[in-house]
Amino acid sequence: MTDKRAFRQALGTYPTGVAVVTALPADRKPMGITVNSFTSVSLEPPLVLWCMDRRSKRFAAFSAAEGYVINILGTEHEEVSARLAQPGSHSLEGIGLCQTELGPPALADALAVFECAAHACHDGGDHAILVGRVLRFHRHGPGAPLVFYRGAYGALSKAAGP
Ligand SMILES: Cc1cc2nc3c(=O)[nH]c(=O)nc-3n(C[C@H](O)[C@H](O)[C@H](O)COP(=O)(O)O)c2cc1C
Repeated sequence: MTDKRAFRQALGTYPTGVAVVTALPADRKPMGITVNSFTSVSLEPPLVLWCMDRRSKRFAAFSAAEGYVINILGTEHEEVSARLAQPGSHSLEGIGLCQTELGPPALADALAVFECAAHACHDGGDHAILVGRVLRFHRHGPGAPLVFYRGAYGALSKAAGP
């Protein structure tokens, strides 16, 4: 299996939501990264996971963090998502934020927010599989989720619901 591009394209046929994970590194400057690898894992205990590219400039900070906040994005967050997916663009300056008990800020208008303690870090090839134990979660009002599919942003055609 050598054709990486074809592999990525095949993987891209699986539609996902989009999240921003935030952390508060030792320098106290909050940082974020756009991810679509977020997955629920366990209800009891409450565990979620996301995968992080070991080559990312943000890898050291996120893998060393005692905790992080996972923010589920809505369609209005496309610009925020694109910005925090740019290489080297980690700052949350200018983005609407709110405080969390955990420490790293949450996106003020995320569809849902999961405050996680770092629970485990597993080998995942060129990525690391970061498992978080959910300490607190908040669900904000209804909204349409941002979707990523075949390398492009989109939305569900029917996103109504409670
Ligand atoms: C929709 C989308 C989803 C992404 N999902 C992930 C992901 O799950 N894990 C990851 O490590 N990078 C993911 N990325 C890439 C990062 O957001 C970022 O581009 C990458 O870390 C390169 O920047 P850096 O080296 O400054 O960290 C995604 C990018 C986009 C646009």
